[in-house]
Amino acid sequence: MHLHKYEKVWLTFGMASLVIFLLIIGFAAFWKGTHPQSHLETIDPNNVEAHDSFKPENLGLTEVADGKYKVNIVASAFNYDFGVDKDEKPVKTIRVPQGSTILFTATTKDVVHGFQVAGTNVNMMLEPGHISRFEAVMKNKGEFTIVCNEYCGIGHHQMFGKVEVY
Ligand code: CUA
Repeated sequence: MHLHKYEKVWLTFGMASLVIFLLIIGFAAFWKGTHPQSHLETIDPNNVEAHDSFKPENLGLTEVADGKYKVNIVASAFNYDFGVDKDEKPVKTIRVPQGSTILFTATTKDVVHGFQVAGTNVNMMLEPGHISRFEAVMKNKGEFTIVCNEYCGIGHHQMFGKVEVY
């Protein structure tokens, strides 16, 4: 069988890139211990309140140090629970100053939900039985919509919240 010169070049290039990509993935997974973040910690999805982070009084925004915050969230169809404000109304907006570091800790009580803060690099998959964490620095001012990006049922499009960076 005769192979044209350019064909050989492209075949070699294709196979070499495949090998390189597999080596990179293998190195990251087996030597560096890089794994999907959502599988690190498990939780009983029927009793999320038993976990300290998800007790009703610990939900939502807490300042842990100067410029450092944590936000605990319990997702369920079709809502993000950020706790309640001082008037006992559900919190829908998280407000932090520009440059803050936020550690998002979230789980779900029912099905798989998404947690994406549009316009930032915050993007987690929330799986029943697992705790997802993501730390991010809010570099830019503005209003960022939190959206569920995993189809979770009839009210999927109504699942949202907001992060306001001032
Ligand atoms: Cu929750 Cu889609």
